[in-house]
Amino acid sequence: HETTVGIIGGGPAGLLLARLLHQAGIDSVVLESRDRVYAEQRQRAGMLEQTTVDVLRQCGAGERMDREGLVHDGIELRFAGRAHHIDFPTLADGRRVTIYAQTEIVKDLISLHLAHLSGTSPLLFGAEVHAVNGIGTSTAADAPDRQEDGAVPPGSPAQPTVHYTHEGQERVLHCQFVVGCDGFHGVSRGALPASVARTYEREYPHSWLGVLAEAPPACDELIYAHSPRGFALHSMRSPTVSRLYLQVPNGTDPEEWSDDRIWDELDARFALESSRGWRLNRGPITSKAVLPMRSSVTEPMQYGRLFLAGDAAHIVPPTGAKGLNLAVADVAVLADAFARHHATGDTEALENYSAGRLRRVWRAEHFSYFMTTTLHTAPDQSPFDTRLQLAQLERIASSSTAAAELAENYAGLALLDGP
Ligand code: FAD
Ligand code: DHB
Repeated sequence: HETTVGIIGGGPAGLLLARLLHQAGIDSVVLESRDRVYAEQRQRAGMLEQTTVDVLRQCGAGERMDREGLVHDGIELRFAGRAHHIDFPTLADGRRVTIYAQTEIVKDLISLHLAHLSGTSPLLFGAEVHAVNGIGTSTAADAPDRQEDGAVPPGSPAQPTVHYTHEGQERVLHCQFVVGCDGFHGVSRGALPASVARTYEREYPHSWLGVLAEAPPACDELIYAHSPRGFALHSMRSPTVSRLYLQVPNGTDPEEWSDDRIWDELDARFALESSRGWRLNRGPITSKAVLPMRSSVTEPMQYGRLFLAGDAAHIVPPTGAKGLNLAVADVAVLADAFARHHATGDTEALENYSAGRLRRVWRAEHFSYFMTTTLHTAPDQSPFDTRLQLAQLERIASSSTAAAELAENYAGLALLDGP
């Protein structure tokens, strides 16, 4: 089998890339290890930046999102028993965000793909990749065009192959380029030569218990709550479905949390001093999972003919809601670079991909770290640390300069401006 771009992983990054490449007249093959039902049910993110919405709309995947997505003008910060609205349109240059679940984006992209692309650009489920070879051959590595940092430029002569198992058979896909969109536990990151790859990581001493409930959201805004009992987040999926998160210790078993215990703890963390009657709407909890938190960035995001995009290259703790948005921005920039290369043979945009994206990735890493450490209670947190958090939250609530910094980062920066 042969294709121009071999895409490993059919999560939001891989599926969207295939769609964008198709629009630029470039064929691809997506290899996804799981089956379609599993891929469409995985509960994950839900907050889309304006840029993410624009990209999905422009590639024809925005129809249901425009109908069913919930547009938000800001968020609420709740701390010390009080509520503060952060208004995005006034603070972040008219930007808004949209609540539309990642699972729905994946469903929309899969059905678009199967309807329009399967002839030229197949999407294979149950196709598990175990190796990527030939991304920058030793000849290319020794060649005069090898860059100073040791990286091999994307245009170097090389013949990448992707090795995978499908329907019990060992198969090989020959490509011009390979893009690893296989998430944090994928194999493509490991194909970067150890001599050039470096991973920067940080683990956090807490996890989130995420629940989905058949209960109308208690208010139409996302609420990020700092409380002496730990962090809580109120989000939603529709006018009848709430999405809620609670900070819990690492290693927590979701079975320790009965439905009643979850609701009582959420109410305690969201409590307001002035309106004691404020309560979440309760309803059946339909999904419950514990998510660990980690920051991780692998550099570079390109070597020879291999590119990394989305969680395969970087992950953030979820507090800033950046994971999915970064993945979409990576593939939007990468698809543009492939389109330029396809139209003119120019590799400059492909060469700039890694450095350009890493600037943005580190900005999002910092914002996610800031939101996480400002809103969560660490196991060894001192009263001094708590006072510092509250001082920072007060500053955001009382200064439009500080609030604008949060709003701009949260609502998202434009795709191609500086960092
Ligand atoms: P993924 O969605 O991970 O997709 C990777 C795909 O590659 C998967 O379909 C996988 O099956 C496939 N794959 C892996 N290995 C192979 C292989 N060897 N061969 C073939 N295919 C392979 N972000 C937020 O902003 N807010 C949240 O609340 C939030 N919650 C999250 C909860 C969980 C449990 C996780 C894991 C992530 C969460 N995120 C959240 C992050 C967000 O969902 C990710 O940033 C986003 O999914 C990244 O998309 P992706 O396509 O890069 O990777
Ligand atoms: C959601 C998840 C987040 O991590 C976040 O910061 C906001 C919203 C969500 O799943 O809706």
